[in-house]
Amino acid sequence: MAKRLALCGVFCFAAANRPVVLVPGLTGSGLEVKQHAAAMPHWYCKKDTHDKWMKAWVDPVQALPGEVDCLIARLTLTYDAASDTYSNLANVELRALGWANGTGASGLTTVNSSYVNESYVNSVNSAHGLDLLYSYEFGPMLKKLESRGYALGKDVFLAPYDWRLAGDAHAQRKNGVGGYYQQLQQLIEEIVEASGQPAVVLSHSLGCPTMLHFFHLYVSEAWRARHIHGWLALSGPWTGGASQVMAYLGGWTLGLPSWLVPHDYVRPVQVNASSGVWMTPHPKGFGNRTLVVTPSRNYTAADMPDMVKLIGGEGWGRQTGSLFSKLQPSLAEIQSPPSGMHMESWYSTGVPTIEGLVYDTDLSEGFNQAPSKTIRGEGDGLVNLVSLSQVEKVWPSSTTTRVFANCSHFGILSDPRVLEALVEYLSEKPAPVFV
Ligand SMILES: *[C@@H]1O[C@H](CO)[C@@H](O)[C@H](O)[C@H]1NC(C)=O
Ligand SMILES: *[C@@H]1O[C@H](CO)[C@@H](O)[C@H](O)[C@H]1NC(C)=O
Ligand SMILES: *[C@@H]1O[C@H](CO)[C@@H](O)[C@H](O)[C@H]1NC(C)=O
Ligand SMILES: *[C@@H]1O[C@H](CO)[C@@H](O)[C@H](O)[C@H]1NC(C)=O
Ligand SMILES: *[C@@H]1O[C@H](CO)[C@@H](O)[C@H](O)[C@H]1NC(C)=O
Ligand SMILES: *[C@@H]1O[C@H](CO)[C@@H](O)[C@H](O)[C@H]1NC(C)=O
Ligand SMILES: *[C@@H]1O[C@H](CO)[C@@H](O)[C@H](O)[C@H]1NC(C)=O
Repeated sequence: MAKRLALCGVFCFAAANRPVVLVPGLTGSGLEVKQHAAAMPHWYCKKDTHDKWMKAWVDPVQALPGEVDCLIARLTLTYDAASDTYSNLANVELRALGWANGTGASGLTTVNSSYVNESYVNSVNSAHGLDLLYSYEFGPMLKKLESRGYALGKDVFLAPYDWRLAGDAHAQRKNGVGGYYQQLQQLIEEIVEASGQPAVVLSHSLGCPTMLHFFHLYVSEAWRARHIHGWLALSGPWTGGASQVMAYLGGWTLGLPSWLVPHDYVRPVQVNASSGVWMTPHPKGFGNRTLVVTPSRNYTAADMPDMVKLIGGEGWGRQTGSLFSKLQPSLAEIQSPPSGMHMESWYSTGVPTIEGLVYDTDLSEGFNQAPSKTIRGEGDGLVNLVSLSQVEKVWPSSTTTRVFANCSHFGILSDPRVLEALVEYLSEKPAPVFV
């Protein structure tokens, strides 16, 4: 302590803010693409970005009917089980947009602002140049933090990632895909060094299993104890959610508003995504509940790999089937609080959430239909309560849980109760560490 005081000298009188790292959820990270003579499905798709990064996700123009095929091609993810290797489309490179400060350093953009709800964007935009997607998700939270003296890029940071991926690819960059954990570890080390204080990580949605894998399997207990003040895990789909089942069967917007992403446009991307396996109901949480009812067969969480192989067939069905075998067991193994650091699980309830789908026809290869009946139950509108509450139900009891009533999956990021709880948490004395 004395040494640290000596190092920071006069600046220590104005105590630095505890640094915060924000980890977004599924589809919550912007993506940029670099292409060189890539094979595109239509003549009008941009094939070459001339060595510049172009925003691919999420750009309202690219989600227009003609452009969506180009977008899907750019976000193609294939997995070869024999060599355990992921690939992008040939001659396409992808990276997360706005690392650390959320500003797109993009050389090219195709945003046509007449498609964007300017009044919404202006109401949440707190920093010049903050990407639209980050404004939508984190605008109100950043505004709140700014009112307490925080500044994006100085002591609050965005750590976006390739949301098609799960922990295996984040842990190891291979064939131009993955590598998020190394980048994240480096960012946290730098900001802890610069501020002289361990960081708070706030993750949302898919960001929760993403961080769970990082903490358990990528860094050591000593690293966690030194670098992490606490982890606030918001709306964690710890054992998946029935919404992902709807993504496999057709008709889910990934929870984003329709002005940002129209109806089920990126289904071909989501069915191939390894993160989709993490988002699928896991037998460990969902047990024997019936998720899908059809005339001749009902499907529970344990039947999800079969269902995916059936409807995805030799194309994505085989790929995603092998991803289930690879990724589901390890997700079950890490369901416990990481030692050496403090963790809190915050989630919301009170919004009807899809928990079952009823179809009048049997499933078959290529199936893509809206259900004849949707059964809804308790949750945050996107993730079922059974998954959100996994932490306090079955994890060892060292984790604090806070539940915010009447608040949605995305609403939790701007709910005044949550923002107040966040600034309170940030100003607390170091929390006890559970080893
Ligand atoms: C999905 O995976 C299949 C099988 O590897 C591949 O043929 C297809 O191009 C992929 N599509 C997308 C959008 O990733
Ligand atoms: C954000 O970070 C990028 C990449 O490090 C940098 O080029 C850019 O100047 C930064 N923008 C702001 C506003 O700090
Ligand atoms: C933006 O889109 C609108 C609606 O299609 C169109 O009229 C306008 O010309 C576009 N503007 C630019 C700069 O592309
Ligand atoms: C645009 O955003 C404003 C502010 O959030 C909202 O009141 C309005 O309904 C939105 N308009 C559309 C067309 O979505
Ligand atoms: C599901 O499991 C519960 C408890 O394990 C059991 O009571 C129930 O009968 C089972 N339901 C079905 C349909 O198998
Ligand atoms: C599927 O579940 C429904 C509702 O729980 C039930 O009525 C039906 O008999 C089940 N069908 C089969 C084939 O098990
Ligand atoms: C939640 O909303 C319902 C319906 O609007 C209301 O009756 C209930 O009191 C609300 N609960 C809380 C805790 O705000």
